[in-house]
Amino acid sequence: MSEAASAPVSATGLASEIRRRRTFAIISHPDAGKTTLTERILRAGGAIQLAGNVRAKGERRRTKSDWMGIERDRGISVVTSVMTFEYGGCVFNLLDTPGHEDFSEDTYRTLTAVDCAVMVIDAAKGIEDRTRKLFEICRLRDIPIVTFINKMDREAQDCFGLLDEIASTLALDTSPATWPIGRAGHFAGTYDMRTREIRGEAVDLPQSDARMVALSEELELAEAALPLFDRESFDAGHLTPVFFGSAMKEIGVTDLLDALVAYGPEPRAQPSETREVKADEEQVTALIFKIQANMDPNHRDRMAFARICSGKLTRGMRLKHVRTGKQFALHTPQFFFARDRQLAEEAFAGDVVGLPNHGTLRIGDTLSESEELRFTGVPHFAPEILRRVRLDDAMKAKKLRQALVELAEEGVVQLFRPQDGLPPIVGVVGTLQLDVLQSRLQGEYGVAIGFESTPYTIARWVTGERAKIEAFSMVNRSAMADDLDGDPVFLASSNFMMRRTVEMNADLGFHDIKQIG
Ligand code: G4P
Repeated sequence: MSEAASAPVSATGLASEIRRRRTFAIISHPDAGKTTLTERILRAGGAIQLAGNVRAKGERRRTKSDWMGIERDRGISVVTSVMTFEYGGCVFNLLDTPGHEDFSEDTYRTLTAVDCAVMVIDAAKGIEDRTRKLFEICRLRDIPIVTFINKMDREAQDCFGLLDEIASTLALDTSPATWPIGRAGHFAGTYDMRTREIRGEAVDLPQSDARMVALSEELELAEAALPLFDRESFDAGHLTPVFFGSAMKEIGVTDLLDALVAYGPEPRAQPSETREVKADEEQVTALIFKIQANMDPNHRDRMAFARICSGKLTRGMRLKHVRTGKQFALHTPQFFFARDRQLAEEAFAGDVVGLPNHGTLRIGDTLSESEELRFTGVPHFAPEILRRVRLDDAMKAKKLRQALVELAEEGVVQLFRPQDGLPPIVGVVGTLQLDVLQSRLQGEYGVAIGFESTPYTIARWVTGERAKIEAFSMVNRSAMADDLDGDPVFLASSNFMMRRTVEMNADLGFHDIKQIG
């Protein structure tokens, strides 16, 4: 993957390299076991040798100060946005999604860069609130879902009931890929529905063991009642193969990985403004879906995470940065491993690489070898929490302006500059984002700020003919702002006000989602 000089690959070489990429994220409700499963997967992939934790704590038990600490400690922390490892002849890119719902925009952007999601469900709790929300995001993009029912080593709900619940709550067909042997304290392994192979301690159980007897009865029922795995429905996001296991006891983890090797989706075509870009096209294209600062405490560099959408990227190559029209030289593209990173001499469609930069690259940007295309699908959502930034030391106004732009480019908050010249307004989905903004402004820029409430609860991007937007802005000056890209945004204080504005301005569009790019 990263060895020495890169020779040109033939078209078939390119296609076969791309075919062995698996790029996925794990989605779950906090506490279902995402952290534990991630760690076990990385261990199976040889990415971490020790039984050490990927993180000190799972998502659930993180307090506000933990989150602040995480932001501060990013540079030395093992939390990275992507972890690359090899398993079963495939190159896996596991993308991390923040577990806290206040960062759901970040999660959404990350999901635009994956080809598949592993949905972890707690066997005792079934589908929980956040699982459902994350699943809906995947559905919007028809992302294929693999289900891992975790904690089978504890008291669990009935397996048929769980499969039913997934099918009915998510309107998704379920096909068991494995079946658990024994339950709770007696959970002894899994039975592969396709190969009929038994895995885990259960291999040594006699047929007379109560667990094996129960297995054959359940299998009879399962095979009669549940749909068989169908590759096409899975690829289309309509059917999920279901695995049973225990991340903690390392049961079922390799079942899951082997399945991703066998039929995990290969890199998908990515939508752009003009056409779909297929992964095996020779021209290199890439989409920036995440920016992370403070990866290295000694440098103020920012890391842009790029999903390679097509072709083969080689270190040293220059790509066009489509938004600015300038060239971007790939001097130091990097792969990330669990505890380590390495220069990426070459990388293929499906791979995710980090590109250090000084603020040139923004979320949603496209890099392209030749064609002038822009990927779509990375959205901004209209925030519902809008706060005015109050600066404590007026001497730092200029610094604050620059810092807000940088942090908004990173996606920490959305920035709205009121057209009437009043102090900037920041928009967020969850209040934890405000805490992160405040602590980073203080810690990294030495700027102390507070927040003041605004009368606004609604933000809408305004589109239409330029002259009409200008006329509208004149009349509504105090409710108009420009976003980071200079696009006009209307701020309303109530639904009633918003509806009235829409009615009275039929020649303008008011949007709650903006596609970046
Ligand atoms: P999260 O990232 O989804 O929030 O979950 P995390 O992996 O942190 O797991 C949440 C809790 O569930 C942890 O226990 C973890 O050990 C436990 N857990 C995860 N997978 C399994 C499993 O397969 N079986 C069982 N029995 N437990 C599992 P904790 O007591 O809250 O923390 P810890 O002290 O074990 O770290």
